[in-house]
Amino acid sequence: MLSSTLLLVAPFTPAIFSGHECSRSNFFGNYGDAGSTFSVLAVSDEACLDFWASSLTSSHITPPLQPGTQLVWFEKASVDVMLQPQDDSALDELLLSLEASTTDSTFRQQDVLAVDNSYAPSPYTLLYRTPTAALVSLEGNKAKVIDTLMPPFWKSRLLPTSPVDYIPVPETAVNHVRDVLNKLKFNPLVASVVNNISLPQIKNDIRFLTGEDPKSKIVSRHSFSTGALTAANWLKERVENTGATCRLAPFLMGFAPNVICRYASIKDTNSTVLISGHYDSRGSFGSTRAPGGDDDGSGTTGVLSIARTIARKGVKFHCNVELAFFAGEEQGLLGSAAYARELRAAGANLTLMIQADMTAYRAPGEPLQLGLPERIGTPEVTELVSKVAAIYSPELKVGYSPACCSDHQSFLEQGFPSTQVFERAGPIADPMYHNSGDLSDREGYDFEQLFAIAKVQFATVLHTAGFEL
Ligand SMILES: *[C@@H]1O[C@H](CO)[C@@H](O)[C@H](O)[C@H]1NC(C)=O
Ligand SMILES: *[C@@H]1O[C@H](CO)[C@@H](O)[C@H](O)[C@H]1NC(C)=O
Ligand SMILES: *[C@@H]1O[C@H](CO)[C@@H](O)[C@H](O)[C@H]1NC(C)=O
Ligand SMILES: [Zn+2]
Repeated sequence: MLSSTLLLVAPFTPAIFSGHECSRSNFFGNYGDAGSTFSVLAVSDEACLDFWASSLTSSHITPPLQPGTQLVWFEKASVDVMLQPQDDSALDELLLSLEASTTDSTFRQQDVLAVDNSYAPSPYTLLYRTPTAALVSLEGNKAKVIDTLMPPFWKSRLLPTSPVDYIPVPETAVNHVRDVLNKLKFNPLVASVVNNISLPQIKNDIRFLTGEDPKSKIVSRHSFSTGALTAANWLKERVENTGATCRLAPFLMGFAPNVICRYASIKDTNSTVLISGHYDSRGSFGSTRAPGGDDDGSGTTGVLSIARTIARKGVKFHCNVELAFFAGEEQGLLGSAAYARELRAAGANLTLMIQADMTAYRAPGEPLQLGLPERIGTPEVTELVSKVAAIYSPELKVGYSPACCSDHQSFLEQGFPSTQVFERAGPIADPMYHNSGDLSDREGYDFEQLFAIAKVQFATVLHTAGFEL
């Protein structure tokens, strides 16, 4: 054993995870920056150190970890050049601000529910850095609310407190999706069901979540906010009213819970498909408002619109169908990570998972689009979604996006076939990304695109699960 734990940061390659014990149970996650993915692994013994040194080029070994600190990954989101500030000193400024003691008051502005602000500010330790990403260790309470300090277009992700198992998606887990792909053709019944999604209802629902409807009193759905709890209870009730069984599933102290809903199969099977969005949100630095109309009010409302249609049409499924609304996404996919591990531990037979994250924004002059993940996703699932889109939402131009790492990644890393649906065949172009101005009533917010993408998510579920009316 080495006397202290070091971390290995290496460009992601599936080869890291094949054939050597070092990788399996020493995994701290895959993280991105504006263009690539890195794997973070604990190096706990000399043999692993030798293995990495001989098998990986351009990897980086960090200084020893300090016990009791929280690891945080900072990354620049994959954002279109037209949105990016020329000056790229944002990371330096962030690191400087971590040393300042004035951050307490900023945290207090965030309508924080249960975070202890009484800690003494402590400096960070920089463990790894590129121009567009950094790995630091921080005092725990500060780490928990670090997302409220992030500059525009930067994201923070908390690493697990100890290494976890990395479970590649087994070949056999993709068999069902391959079957569906092979048999896929236009089904008029599927079309009649997905076309029954109600656009006026979507327009109405989103306004509750963003607080544009003053009756909701939601100012923010930040994971620590009271608004997130309002949204969680509201979503649970709405989906329960469609005949599903729902529960609030807390996953971490101080965070709003996941909302997990289920339509039991009318056949005797353990096969399950899951669609999801994240209902938590982020606003601009220093502002308490976080309406999250696009990110991810759009995906959340899309999934809700599917639930409402299941009830209106009396859809009954031939396998179990789950709808999940995650929290803690903005702090690093925390809610979905907890749920994916829970399903893995229970031996769940999850045959397909599709996360909808940001489906409504369309840049002026661009066509309606569907963006599928370039890097993080199961290729067969992504292909299925792409083919389903061509059949049921031909108005969408389908392509690939480097924008990365929403809740589907949590499922992928627990060995479940997963993908994401996104608004653009390219990097993020929404000028209100992680901004307090992310409302639904604004230029570029396109309900037709949100609707068309929800149809794709729904049609994929209908084909994969099987159903009757
Ligand atoms: C959806 O279907 C229901 C029942 O068949 C019908 O009453 C309703 O008008 C339809 N709504 C839309 C938006 O197509
Ligand atoms: C999971 O469900 C699929 C689809 O119904 C089925 O073919 C498969 O045998 C199941 N796998 C396991 C491991 O139970
Ligand atoms: C699911 O059902 C299949 C077929 O009945 C069975 O072989 C398998 O063991 C079950 N899997 C689990 C995890 O219960
Ligand atoms: Zn998001």
